[in-house]
Amino acid sequence: MTIDLAALPHDFLWGTATSAYQIEGAVAEDGRSPSIWDTFSHTPGRTDNGDHGDIACDHYHRWREDIDLMRRLGTNAYRLSVAWPRVRPGGDGPVNAKGLDFYDRLVDALLAAGITPSVTLYHWDLPQTLQDRGGWPERATAEHFAAYAAVVAERLGDRVAHWTTLNEPLCSAWIGHLEGLMAPGLTDLTAAVRASYHLLLGHGLAAAAIRAASPRARVGIVNNLSTVHPATDRPEDVAAARRMDGHTNRWWLDPVHGRGFPDDMREVYGVELPERPGDPSVIAAPLDWLGLNYYFPATVADDPAGPVPHARAVRRAGVPRTGMDWEVDAGGIETLLLRLTQEYGARRLYVTENGSAYPDVVRPDGTIDDPARQEYLVQHLAACARAARRGAPLAGYFAWSLLDNFEWAYGYDKRFGLVHVDYATQARTIKGSGHRYADIVRSHRERAAEAA
Ligand code: FCB
Repeated sequence: MTIDLAALPHDFLWGTATSAYQIEGAVAEDGRSPSIWDTFSHTPGRTDNGDHGDIACDHYHRWREDIDLMRRLGTNAYRLSVAWPRVRPGGDGPVNAKGLDFYDRLVDALLAAGITPSVTLYHWDLPQTLQDRGGWPERATAEHFAAYAAVVAERLGDRVAHWTTLNEPLCSAWIGHLEGLMAPGLTDLTAAVRASYHLLLGHGLAAAAIRAASPRARVGIVNNLSTVHPATDRPEDVAAARRMDGHTNRWWLDPVHGRGFPDDMREVYGVELPERPGDPSVIAAPLDWLGLNYYFPATVADDPAGPVPHARAVRRAGVPRTGMDWEVDAGGIETLLLRLTQEYGARRLYVTENGSAYPDVVRPDGTIDDPARQEYLVQHLAACARAARRGAPLAGYFAWSLLDNFEWAYGYDKRFGLVHVDYATQARTIKGSGHRYADIVRSHRERAAEAA
């Protein structure tokens, strides 16, 4: 499989991605308050093996070494998230200088290493104190989010241009409030729909706050989207696929593009939205770019008695799967990049996450060869390049993840890193996939330099 590197722009961002709670550890240090993920992961039965992020990859102390790894990979961008409970431990109220200082140093060191920071403001770690006051189902949370975003943008905005409001609001709302499998662990449709609304409102309010604090800011939102296929061509399954598409994709894309929340899905949920006049235009704040996180496609069948959206995932036989049991379908990333371009008029796109977990074997000589992860990486990059060739304005790709890390409810057993972490010693080792990525980045760079 070859990657059509010539299809990618010369200034393409080649990055890796992480998020605060998954790597930082140091949960009680320098004034950080607990987040909903501290609470959730410390609640018995919520995560595999009872794993939690107390130490994680100890990145809070090892960030210099981690930047060095990025340098060794040859990447020129890094997507990180800021922990709200470090910056504003009370959710609102006083700013914690030590929390902000950490990100300030990190940004300076990234820039000194020639790595463009891309900063996400919310990657699921809501301060627990705001959850205690109602969390995302409450409108005030959206307002507090915008105020926190302004604080961070004021501090980092002279050096950071690339901002993401929310990472995957779908997971916060649907998995966190409806399926109960992520923090805060609720199974309540009304709370979930209200949370989805206030997340997108918070996105719009934060976008404006970031721009007010830093006129050079380029603001986007990151969604995890899936291609959705009906299990059969029966009309019921086709309708179920349409509902799943609404639940997974359109609910998150339409409102931020000024199309409002899709009517068919309002009907499916049957929950009144907490709308106020003026909200639609706040939510539809102009976007400088769109971020796509892509992992797997969905195949669904009608399930009238099942939970919303009354569409049941169907397991297709004979297709390759990752260690997450997620189906591998690189064509999906191409389809979605083209859909964002053609249907939503995206003018700038980033793949903000893509990657795979497989069990890794450390050889006696300490190296880690991970052919399946390499194959996944190359296939998906090739599909990204095809999309670019066909007109998708793709400006960068961030591999998930720089490091093996705390994979939420799955704990530490699921390893997505290009770099292996030995959690007992915190030793980092670049895997075969990391070396492969470095080779691809280097070839693209050489090609760009020749063309220039
Ligand atoms: C995404 C999350 C990211 C990571 C990957 C595997 O949904 O944004 O934090 O867990 O999945």
